[in-house]
Amino acid sequence: MFNSILLMGNNVFGKICFAPNKLYKNRNLLHVLMTERWQRERKREHYYRQAKKEGYRSRAAYKLKQINKKYNIIKKGDVVVDLGAAPGGWSQVAKEAVDDGFVFGVDLEEIEPVEGVEFVRGDLTKKDVVENISSIVKKADVVISDLSPNISGTYSVDHARSVYLSEAALSFAEKILKRNGSFVVKIFEGDLFKDYFEKVKNRFDYVKTYRPGATRKSSSEVYIIGKRFKGL
Ligand SMILES: C[S@@+](CC[C@H](N)C(=O)[O-])C[C@H]1O[C@@H](n2cnc3c(N)ncnc32)[C@H](O)[C@@H]1O
Repeated sequence: MFNSILLMGNNVFGKICFAPNKLYKNRNLLHVLMTERWQRERKREHYYRQAKKEGYRSRAAYKLKQINKKYNIIKKGDVVVDLGAAPGGWSQVAKEAVDDGFVFGVDLEEIEPVEGVEFVRGDLTKKDVVENISSIVKKADVVISDLSPNISGTYSVDHARSVYLSEAALSFAEKILKRNGSFVVKIFEGDLFKDYFEKVKNRFDYVKTYRPGATRKSSSEVYIIGKRFKGL
């Protein structure tokens, strides 16, 4: 907190320190920063409480709802594969959207059953797991990936791990998507982002990046939306 005050003080509010009413202005600045932080935490709390109230397994469920509302990715009757599905929030939202369609989720972790959704436990970066899912699902209309690495706290490491998982999600999507199918993938921003984005652009006619409102301000994650898969 004090670092950010100092930083802002030196850059944007540098002159304030020399003003006669310095104390008053610094208090104002402190107030603004604390209010912003309070609002961020309140928002975080808002989605957490809403998820509890509405019976979703994760606050992340609202990210997929917001993505789907904006880009109309998942439709009734679709076959959807959810990568990194635990604890199941996205699968719940996907199941609501497909109605009598089919949702299949995969995660390293065990997932409590969700009505109408099939889950498998496994590592998506492993060939046998990909083959197993492909043999069950055959072809999908939509692949959604909220895969996240364990966070080390070192930005470059977490970014590289996230790109690795996003690469696995893209190569899985290439195998299983029907022509004109859709893809949603989470990735942490960083210097490898641009190359990855270009790869998605090569495979889909329509590609956008989006940060849903339910994403924490402090997060470096962004979602890439790909529509109209060109096929291999
Ligand atoms: C942010 S959580 C997903 C939350 C989920 N979308 C929801 O709404 O409930 C990310 C998940 O990715 C999973 N994951 C990470 N690496 C994986 C891998 N190699 N294969 C399968 N799942 C993986 C983690 O176990 C974790 O449950």
